[in-house]
Amino acid sequence: MESQLALELVRVTEEAALRSALWSGRGDKNSADEAATTGMREQFDSVAMDGVVVIGEGEMDEAPMLYIGERVGNGQGPQMDVAVDPLEGTETVANGLNNALSVIAAAPRGQLLHAPDIYMHKLAAGPELAGKLSLDDPIELTLRKASAILGRPLSEMTVSILDRKRHEDMIKALRNAGVRIKLLTHGDVMGAIETCLDSEVDLYVGSGGAPEGVLAAAALKCLGGEIQGRLIPETAEDYERCTRMGLEHPEQLLQLEDMVGSEGVMFVATGVTSGEFLRGVKYLTGQRAETHSVMMYSGTRTVRYLRSVHHRFRHSDPVAEVRTQAVSSL
Ligand code: FBP
Repeated sequence: MESQLALELVRVTEEAALRSALWSGRGDKNSADEAATTGMREQFDSVAMDGVVVIGEGEMDEAPMLYIGERVGNGQGPQMDVAVDPLEGTETVANGLNNALSVIAAAPRGQLLHAPDIYMHKLAAGPELAGKLSLDDPIELTLRKASAILGRPLSEMTVSILDRKRHEDMIKALRNAGVRIKLLTHGDVMGAIETCLDSEVDLYVGSGGAPEGVLAAAALKCLGGEIQGRLIPETAEDYERCTRMGLEHPEQLLQLEDMVGSEGVMFVATGVTSGEFLRGVKYLTGQRAETHSVMMYSGTRTVRYLRSVHHRFRHSDPVAEVRTQAVSSL
């Protein structure tokens, strides 16, 4: 059942990637996001699943599709919670940079955390460090613990973090400790996943989107890594949104299973632009396009990579499409 569903879901991320990659480097992140969201939403209709979006493009009154609570799938098949990010890295695509993905996580109904679109403090690590660190520790202690467990001096460790003003102190602390730092411009789902790949990154730290935290948790559970999180509600409205989503103590420390539950979770992603993990969409001659995707399932810890060639690819020039629409509506 899992591999069948994963294959169906991968067709959904492929469609989102194929449509949004057309906007690569065009400087228009909203159109790139809209293209991914429309593609994902349309393709979901053919998936044999009774799904409910728990993490999506926003609340019902803010998003036209893939909003929280929307039913997706053809209504038949397993009852699932679904977390989506049609385009993880909207700016990345707009600027034609690396590492943008289209992502879905799915788990049996009731398993995924309903995370509001606010920031979350995060600490992610690969299998060797999983279960041995705490987000509650000061960063200096976390680094010393990690260095002892990995058996490597701090100078031979790499920590990744989003390059943001809010991280100035954290980056200073990392530099004082003597670790190497990988500063990310965008995309912390990928930042967290990288701790589990054969890469130089040992830890991912700092704050990023809470929805992205849940998506990363799904991937890390499949890869044997760990992510801990703590939501950062900043206003009374944020607190209200957290409690409305069922989080009684919004600032509690969230362990991996608080985010993705104890049952099997699946994670699928298709590369939009190329990165460490997946190659991006490549448009070929003759109305064909190539995509690279990954499908993972935590129940078996299986990770499958899929290269697909799509024939008769129809969305060749989004700008021309927009122009045609404008002309025909005159
Ligand atoms: P979008 O795809 O929505 O643009 O998000 C990209 C991202 O970098 C996420 O990966 C990350 O969690 C979040 O933005 C960080 O937010 P901010 O850019 O406000 O620091």
